[in-house]
Amino acid sequence: MRVVIAKDYEDMSQRAARIVAGQIYLKPNSVLGLATGSTPISMYKDLIRVHKEVGLDFSEVITFNLDEYLGLPISDEQSYYYYMFQNFFNHVNIKKENIYIPNGIMDDVELECKNYDDKIQKKGGIDLQVLGIGTNGHIGFNEPDIKFEATTHKVKLDDETINANARFFSTIEEVPRFAISMGIKTIMHAKKIILLASGENKAEVIFRALFEGITPEVPASILQLHQDVTVIVEENAAQLLKPKLYHS
Ligand code: GLP
Repeated sequence: MRVVIAKDYEDMSQRAARIVAGQIYLKPNSVLGLATGSTPISMYKDLIRVHKEVGLDFSEVITFNLDEYLGLPISDEQSYYYYMFQNFFNHVNIKKENIYIPNGIMDDVELECKNYDDKIQKKGGIDLQVLGIGTNGHIGFNEPDIKFEATTHKVKLDDETINANARFFSTIEEVPRFAISMGIKTIMHAKKIILLASGENKAEVIFRALFEGITPEVPASILQLHQDVTVIVEENAAQLLKPKLYHS
């Protein structure tokens, strides 16, 4: 596990965008696993800039998003589908048929989950997975006490997650209670992973994820067992990491 402390949010975003861009230059038909939330927004902006300024080509890139709320149509501004097109896909030359996001309004959720894992496998697996982290240690929507062997599945969101994500909705009642998420097993099969963390409110959880025991109580802690993870932590989120990194 490589841990990089970025001097601010922009620096974290640029470092992440460089890794993603490098992946695409080296393998133009890369399969990317993508995240939503506020953390990767500037990384997407940087990738759009690299596309516009120096022609980073997304025409062969394939993407799989980590998760989607259950019950929100793609036209809903809070759906992750909407987020991805607004913040990224509409601004680069990715082909729509190469974009995969779990469908949050399928009747047969189990089938949707199974099909999602099958599609990832058929495309050869994820080359590079981008992750954020929830304040409760979740990655994707894999909430505390998740089974590490889970593949894509239906998730009941934690109260902490509902509270944290309420900031994007007009009222907390509007926050969906369920989601579809790639499972830990799906994520751990990615060949490379970058984990981003920004803001003081992530300091404790990122410390627990990187330096304490591997436990389903902190789902991100499983990443300690992955062979190719780069963690890019913005200064404020890295407050508790520094003593460990500089004195070990
Ligand atoms: C959300 C998403 C995660 C994201 C996390 C942190 O609920 N499902 O994929 O990484 O919570 O979000 P943020 O980056 O807004 O702090």
